[in-house]
Amino acid sequence: MTALLEIRDLHLSMSSYEGSADVLNGINLTVNRGEIWGLVGESGCGKSLTGLSVSRLAPSPPAHYSKGQILLEGRDLLPLTQREMQKLRGKRIGMIFQDPTTNLNPAFRIGEQLTDVALAAAAQDDTILDCPAHSSNRTRRAAAWSLAVEMLEKVGIPNAQSRLASYPHEFSGGMRQRVLIAMAMIGRPDLLIADEPTTALDVSVQAQILKQIKANVAEYDMGVVLITHNLGVVAQTCSHVAVMYAGNIVENGPVAAVIGNPVHPYTRALLSAIPTKDTKRGALKGLAGAVPNLINPPPGCRFAPRCAFAQPACTKATPPPETVGPNHSAACIRAAEMEALIHA
Ligand SMILES: Nc1ncnc2c1ncn2[C@@H]1O[C@H](COP(=O)(O)OP(=O)(O)OP(=O)(O)O)[C@@H](O)[C@H]1O
Ligand SMILES: [Mg+2]
Repeated sequence: MTALLEIRDLHLSMSSYEGSADVLNGINLTVNRGEIWGLVGESGCGKSLTGLSVSRLAPSPPAHYSKGQILLEGRDLLPLTQREMQKLRGKRIGMIFQDPTTNLNPAFRIGEQLTDVALAAAAQDDTILDCPAHSSNRTRRAAAWSLAVEMLEKVGIPNAQSRLASYPHEFSGGMRQRVLIAMAMIGRPDLLIADEPTTALDVSVQAQILKQIKANVAEYDMGVVLITHNLGVVAQTCSHVAVMYAGNIVENGPVAAVIGNPVHPYTRALLSAIPTKDTKRGALKGLAGAVPNLINPPPGCRFAPRCAFAQPACTKATPPPETVGPNHSAACIRAAEMEALIHA
């Protein structure tokens, strides 16, 4: 079976006057329909650039792909022109950006922006609009408008019908974020890349939107990559998780396996940094150090300088993923002995 998305050995560098930074250092990720992948890791480790690469929206230059493939149902996206990519966005690939303030056009009403996306997607898939295939433009536009109302309601915007006539500046930041979520989902994309979609929203709206994404995955058999800092969101929403560190995926697998039985020392550190109700004040275990400068990254395993279990061999080469359970792997040369080391 061809995967919906398969990222193979993706290497991306970003050039600046200080030098070239290896921000993606051989990413491998496979997303099938029906799966929601959480992509987690500290700030600056390459999560957004992984998502932007799939929709080919990483600014190039400075972005340069030196190696790898991004296959959407077997078709490599990297050689495509922006015009060809434009046809895939909206219907095949939907994207919710990390920064919502810059992604609505201030000059057009919310309703016009939503219906335009719906109409463009419907040009490729007639089932999106609830009207016969050869209807007049006017009928199609009216159907797209009704769909926009329905989508705004689904993301929790009250009085959706009248709010469609508003301009983006008349909405609060959280409402604009919800409009962008509706816009990413209105074309029923096969693949949704959602970069911190709910970080700016309050918890009740966040829960509603995550529920909506899950419902869409089940109804339309789509695949999702959900980029987030919040491991609680991952545990509640995702079927799978990939943990990134400094341009590498260091551990991935089904959520229950990775969160329930983490193997990579970085995953373990991330999980132990989450406070629980039993955490005493001041007792929060942080992770010492910071993500390294990627212009001159540490040799071998990039996590080694911060790792309690590092040994000289760790600095020799980038560790390949080791299978540690069903569909569960960790890129650590000590993966097999990790259980014993932890309890030693
Ligand atoms: N336009 C750019 N030009 C140069 N370097 C960039 C650019 N965008 C990102 N980077 C660098 O690429 C690395 C990865 O950035 P990215 O935005 O993917 O991180 P992230 O994991 O999404 O972080 P956050 O959690 O803060 O959103 C960082 O070191 C960043 O400084
Ligand atoms: Mg980001």
